[in-house]
Amino acid sequence: MKKVITYGTYDLLHQGHINLLTRAKALGDYLIVGVTSDNFDRNRGKLNVRNNVLERIEAVKNTGLADEIIIEDYDGQKIDDIQKYEVDVFTVGSDWVGKFDYLQEFCEVIYLPRTEGVSSTMLRSADTINIKLGVIGTGRMANRFMPESKHVSGVEIVSAYNPIDKIGLSDFSSRYDVKDFENLEKFLESVDAVYIASPHLSHYSYIKSALEANKHVLCEIPIVLSKAEAEELYSLAESRHLVLLEASKTAHCPAFNHLINIVKGGAIGTVIDVTASLSKLVSGELRELDPQQAGGSMTELAHFPLLSIVKLLGKDFTDISFFSKFENGVDIFTRGIINYEHAVSSITLGLGVKTEGNLVISGTKGYVYVPAPWWLTDFFEVRYENQNLNKKYFYSFDGDGLRYELQEFISMIRNNRLTSHRLRREESIVIVSVIEKFLNSENVKQL
Ligand code: CTP
Repeated sequence: MKKVITYGTYDLLHQGHINLLTRAKALGDYLIVGVTSDNFDRNRGKLNVRNNVLERIEAVKNTGLADEIIIEDYDGQKIDDIQKYEVDVFTVGSDWVGKFDYLQEFCEVIYLPRTEGVSSTMLRSADTINIKLGVIGTGRMANRFMPESKHVSGVEIVSAYNPIDKIGLSDFSSRYDVKDFENLEKFLESVDAVYIASPHLSHYSYIKSALEANKHVLCEIPIVLSKAEAEELYSLAESRHLVLLEASKTAHCPAFNHLINIVKGGAIGTVIDVTASLSKLVSGELRELDPQQAGGSMTELAHFPLLSIVKLLGKDFTDISFFSKFENGVDIFTRGIINYEHAVSSITLGLGVKTEGNLVISGTKGYVYVPAPWWLTDFFEVRYENQNLNKKYFYSFDGDGLRYELQEFISMIRNNRLTSHRLRREESIVIVSVIEKFLNSENVKQL
């Protein structure tokens, strides 16, 4: 019996897939079809797949062409499968010519003609009207956001707004071919949703104006600097049935999500201690060091460490104390100790003090170690007393990571989902409340 194997995502199954499977089947007597898992696609940067793995398997099954369907879940699996299933022929469409020649060592490799004029990508874009997005602010974050947005389907950046920096605005709009606005009302009229990448202190009023104009909002961290403001804005979004999401790239990246799930699943027992550090040495006339613009380590850096703590230990901390070194009115270093009834945690942040930026989660059975820069999570290790049980997890963290938050934002809008389990509104509010306590000098000891 001649066994043939082929692989694909098979999203929104189309005639091109059916032709390919028909041709593949004709190459032998038994056809095995490998369908990518959702995780595998996400990890290889394919963020826009519409059908989940069960729907895609069902669609392939309904063609009646596959004798066996398997799930492709990791790099290198093709070699394993070819040997395991004693495959004679590996085949795939001609868009991959040359890419799988390395499999010739294990079986015959045949590239079949690809059907012209149809693809899942085309179908995905044909049946959706792009969400029109406007960017508020044209500085460093906005410039990182633009190339990232190209990796997310169903969204088009059409406008930019900056009432303060005219030259920056016109440079930005010509660089990215978007329309520039100095008038907020007109800018908001031109879009369905906004991404706010302006200085911290402007977030509150921009979010409010955008929500009042019925626009969905993705806002950079920290979303605002007061719990009352955060609560007010999330309620406003809820009452108008709009998405308001804090743009936390770590919260939305695949590795961090998996890490949280593994720990919550009991891999290291009960979590007793979380320590998270993040330092970024900066100097000069920067917003980060300007007290007038809410600069300082806590406002700039605390979000990601607090995200880990709140995700793992919850919202109900019992007390907090801060130890900070101030220079020119901003904390260039802060250690925060956040205690819970049955656990402790700490954050160590530095804009003017350098430290190792890692994350350690300690539990009753073992601990998780995430090396610096843990907030761009692409690797972590679960470690035990018996080192033979240690397990390393590898992922990719693509680009600047902003694509992950944007993809979640667009998915929330499309599916009328007002909250994201990756960063719930209550979690965002608690993170803000910790930053606010510091800004209100509650339990802050100066070093
Ligand atoms: N295929 C084909 N003709 C097409 C589209 C896909 O022969 N018009 C083949 C691919 O070469 C591959 C298989 O179908 O062997 C599964 O491809 P997949 O990546 O799932 O489909 P695409 O439509 O190419 O998906 P996307 O646009 O998301 O890349």
